[in-house]
Amino acid sequence: METLIPTINRLQEVFQTVGTEIIQLPQIVVVGTQSSGKSSVLESLVGRDFLPRGSGIVTRRPLVLQLVNVAPRQERLKNEHGNGLKQNTQNSYPGIKAEEWGTFLHCKNQIFTDFVEIRKEIEAETERSSGDNKGITSEPIYLKIFSPKVLNLTLVDLPGIIKVPVGDQPENIEAQVQEMILSFISNPNSLILAVSPANSDLATSDALKLAREVDPDGRRTLLVVSKLDLMDAGTDALEVLLGRVIPVRLGIIGVVNRSQHDINTQKSLEDSIKDEHVFLQRHYPSLVSRAGSRYLAKTLSKLLMHHIRDCLPDLKTRVTVLMAQYQARLNSYGQPVEDHSATLLQIVTKFATDYCNTIEGTARHIQTSELCGGARICY
Ligand code: GDP
Ligand code: NA
Ligand code: MG
Repeated sequence: METLIPTINRLQEVFQTVGTEIIQLPQIVVVGTQSSGKSSVLESLVGRDFLPRGSGIVTRRPLVLQLVNVAPRQERLKNEHGNGLKQNTQNSYPGIKAEEWGTFLHCKNQIFTDFVEIRKEIEAETERSSGDNKGITSEPIYLKIFSPKVLNLTLVDLPGIIKVPVGDQPENIEAQVQEMILSFISNPNSLILAVSPANSDLATSDALKLAREVDPDGRRTLLVVSKLDLMDAGTDALEVLLGRVIPVRLGIIGVVNRSQHDINTQKSLEDSIKDEHVFLQRHYPSLVSRAGSRYLAKTLSKLLMHHIRDCLPDLKTRVTVLMAQYQARLNSYGQPVEDHSATLLQIVTKFATDYCNTIEGTARHIQTSELCGGARICY
């Protein structure tokens, strides 16, 4: 994902200059049965430990995780103390000395610089709204992570698909959770990561079933087969991973996340990725270059890149229109006359006023038409 950051940042600069919003990247939503490894997959994508994971029902509220790319700390501090000329209001966070930090919508003014505290806050906020007896709420927790190492991207972690109610869960829990999941993945700007464990039958995958409901052509569904390490001796997922059991248009990617024992012994994400690679080399040598968490991240980057590429003609049209408008306005100022200093000042003043009005008008127009036009998907 990191290779995309400079590109996105450069595009963002251009579009800020012409007063329009940056391309809206698809939000990535994980779907799957309880404990299939959804939270684990998201964590490996973000590259940080901060999501509550574990056996049983752990994720009990949707978590909308907005990643925000910020300038590296050194640069931000320099701008704060420097002349301020290059200061970009959107990317400067005065007073924040950390390189990476998080904030929650439910406690906006609190800055979390310790990712362990972020996990604890997710857990505490889940209990506050959903109780401590396995209850589920559809109201999301909103978390923003600010870092120089992330893309401006939204990821959504969801509770798993449940069949049988436990604890404080109501009788219709299955329908409730399904509805919650559908409300997120029916957004055409969502990229669906359907997570299915390798140790259960793919043909009955609830994740794929739900994804198909909203994305029958499979244009925005990627299948992640987790727990490759937990398959019975003598069986392997090769046929599944090759797409011979169920074809998935955007691809099928096998991964090995950290086991419960790994979580308990606080195995690092880095070690986990190394061990995953060793596992794949041993058991799936022919697939080593097309499996694993790193490959999943790369595939997502590629899909996002396609999305950006497909959006570019549209953005180019906007810029061309703006340029033509400015050129026409410029022409209407006429030729300078004798008194150069006075006229020039008038021209500059008039141009500056008109420029600001047009930019504001255009930005408003684009925002409104984007809202009306709805999202489009293009992979
Ligand atoms: P979620 O409920 O779908 O979000 O799943 P979690 O990410 O919370 O994981 C559920 C449990 O499965 C945790 O104990 C994880 O350690 C374990 N787990 C997830 N993925 C794997 C995997 O690929 N291999 C192994 N051995 N355990 C996994
Ligand atoms: Na779980
Ligand atoms: Mg989870």
